[in-house]
Amino acid sequence: MASVLLTGGAGYIGSHTALAFLEQGIDVVVADNFCNSQPEAIRRVERLAQKEIKVYEADVCDRAAMRRIFEENPTIDAVVHFAGLKAVGESVKIPLEYYRNNIDSALVVCEMTEAFGVHKIVFSSSATVYGASTEVPLTEDSTTGCTSPYGWTKYMIEQILRDYANANKQLEATLLRYFNPVGAHPSGMIGEDPKGIPNNLMPYVCQVAVGRLAKLNVYGNDYPTSDGTGVRDYIHVVDLAQGHVAAYLKSKVGVNVYNLGTGRGSSVLEVIHAFEEAAGVKIPYEITARRPGDVAICYADPKRANEELGWRAQYDLRDMCRDGYNWQRKNPNGYLDAQN
Ligand code: NAD
Ligand code: UD1
Repeated sequence: MASVLLTGGAGYIGSHTALAFLEQGIDVVVADNFCNSQPEAIRRVERLAQKEIKVYEADVCDRAAMRRIFEENPTIDAVVHFAGLKAVGESVKIPLEYYRNNIDSALVVCEMTEAFGVHKIVFSSSATVYGASTEVPLTEDSTTGCTSPYGWTKYMIEQILRDYANANKQLEATLLRYFNPVGAHPSGMIGEDPKGIPNNLMPYVCQVAVGRLAKLNVYGNDYPTSDGTGVRDYIHVVDLAQGHVAAYLKSKVGVNVYNLGTGRGSSVLEVIHAFEEAAGVKIPYEITARRPGDVAICYADPKRANEELGWRAQYDLRDMCRDGYNWQRKNPNGYLDAQN
């Protein structure tokens, strides 16, 4: 039986995707160095799926370690490449670490798939490759260009995969451009567990909701949007995970790019209000200055993924808030909390 190698499979999106594959009866192998995740996430996926996962503590940049994984698992017929560093602000401070880790790991994935005759790669790209593009909704053909070293790593890896596919006519490379993944598995067993103070809106709101942080700073209310606050396309992480299974099942030769978003934009104030309603808690907030680098509006046109992958987001903003809160309430300190 075929199996799928998930690099970074212990992370936020990887763990939800591991579960989605297992629920479809597709085996997974995980390679993760746990630089931004905990082995506990995998144990919980195993409990939810009632299946065991073969996990390798390995750096994906380490060729020898990756070679061993492919040698020991000849059933691998695809790689979903999540492994990477992802904090935009940090990438500005330590760009070389971002380029080294993200580009090297992607190159090693390409080299190993080539060496072992594996033809399917699904890559975690990001809407960040649309840079400061102001046209919405964003289609896969919208202008690209990046505003941070993190973004450029995604952009460059997309290009590496295009060149690889050009040289290897059997390659099936799927580039998934995620919009804003949020929420958690409805069980509350797995979810997002950022280190330190979260940079992103939803994990920040979740931590305010459980009293770990005092109040939210809303970065600007003078944008040209309905209420002046920034608009984003939030997507439930379980929907996103399903998008990977669809991409794997519908994978085709060449390079195929898909936006994974809902197609609906929500403002920061809408998120706060949806969260308050779904969770039944008050979120204290204060309007502060804009965050440098933020765009006013960003949301996807997900038509291509709808049509070609037969995939469509099922959850709405309320579900995302409810499930994000459920995870945070059950695990106020993330995976450090006692097992539940
Ligand atoms: P995450 O940090 O939770 O998961 C990434 C995983 O990769 C972690 O488990 C980390 O330990 C591992 N990792 C990093 N470098 C590694 C290496 N060299 N070798 C082995 N393991 C390594 O992040 P996530 O939110 O699950 O994101 C997964 C992917 O999706 C990333 O590539 C990220 O850039 C991309 N992405 C994320 C978002 C988002 O908002 N979460 C949006 C767009 C794209
Ligand atoms: C960020 C990344 C982007 C990445 C995406 C994935 C930056 C600049 N961009 O996008 O590359 O693909 O995450 O999820 O980090 N906000 C507040 N207060 C907060 C945090 C955020 O008001 O404490 C606002 C922001 O100004 C923005 C919205 O909430 O309008 C969403 O912000 P965030 O969750 O950080 O995501 P993005 O900036 O869209």
